[in-house]
Amino acid sequence: MQFCDLNRQYQKYQTEIDQAINGVIASSSFINGQAILDLEKSLSGFVGVKHAITCSSGTDALLLPLMAYGIEPNDEIICPAFSFIASASMISFLKAKPVFVDVSPIDFNIQISKIEEKITSKTRGIIAVSLFGQCPDLDAINAIAKKYNLWVIEDAAQSFGATLNGKPSCSHTDVATTSFFPAKPLGCYGDGGAVFTNDSELAVRMMRLRSHGQEKRYVHSHIGLNARMDTIQAAILGVKLKHFNQEIENRQKAAALYSSILDDSVLLPEAVEGRTSVWAQYTIGVANRNELKEKLLEKGIPTAVHYPLILPKQEAFKSQIVPNEKFEVAQLFSETVLSLPMHGLISENEVEFVANTIIELGND
Ligand SMILES: Cc1ncc(COP(=O)(O)O)c(C=O)c1O
Repeated sequence: MQFCDLNRQYQKYQTEIDQAINGVIASSSFINGQAILDLEKSLSGFVGVKHAITCSSGTDALLLPLMAYGIEPNDEIICPAFSFIASASMISFLKAKPVFVDVSPIDFNIQISKIEEKITSKTRGIIAVSLFGQCPDLDAINAIAKKYNLWVIEDAAQSFGATLNGKPSCSHTDVATTSFFPAKPLGCYGDGGAVFTNDSELAVRMMRLRSHGQEKRYVHSHIGLNARMDTIQAAILGVKLKHFNQEIENRQKAAALYSSILDDSVLLPEAVEGRTSVWAQYTIGVANRNELKEKLLEKGIPTAVHYPLILPKQEAFKSQIVPNEKFEVAQLFSETVLSLPMHGLISENEVEFVANTIIELGND
């Protein structure tokens, strides 16, 4: 059994994917080819926002709006203490300061009631990560941002395909970003990402920043990056997007099956009312996490720990954080979370095997 079986997916769509890749090779249009334009159109349609800007990774997708907003050294940006490092590290990369907020025991996302106490005169914006596939209450976050004149970026690297109040993830905030890293719910065959916004001026700035700040050929208005998506990746994503809704449905069925078999000896993840999760991860909480992980591996079941060290404790942020500040929920999660096998083509038998093995090990 694999934690995320990408080979099964390739075999299922092989003819279409091979054709798409070969089409790009035959056209030799490896950069800014037709598949990029087609994908951007499909992505903006899927999400329901004006602009979808493809780029080279979910990390660069975060960097582009931060640069476009003109983040300066010592600006403060609020972000969750428990997440993948990219959202916080891109803030630091621009010499601004990530201001960490603890997370909610309900949905693993930023604890909204603790945001306001972290806002200062230096705060410029909020990055809300939609962790494990589910958005936080972005309306509530937008309301706080409006009160203090801040922007909001949804880091939807793990939630592309989820919904909040009937509207897709990536359509709720000033800007949203996602990742098409191979193991993400919608993944390509390398690195890739996208930025979403309805703000046309910001979109133009980000499109330029993605190509060395280029306004027209060899005329540069800004210092920028080379952060474009390869045409081949766009062609692959174009194929996978056609099958995506079906894969989301399968992920949701698998999550429901996990939750129906596992008992309350473990903390079960749930999609909050009004939200659908895309289940990038099905992550449980267990007191004996490391022991369970080892025993599952002995039975041939791979699992993962997302994430074993909270962000404020990462050496990388040492110079920027308040020493000894407590993030109790984040800390507890880092000691107890365990992600179970999950992907778009996982079978009922596999889910049953994993869940029943956990129950049996609990009864040993
Ligand atoms: C929440 C989150 N943000 C950002 C990223 C960065 O994406 P990428 O790996 O495509 O740079 C990831 C990737 O794991 C992620 O999980």
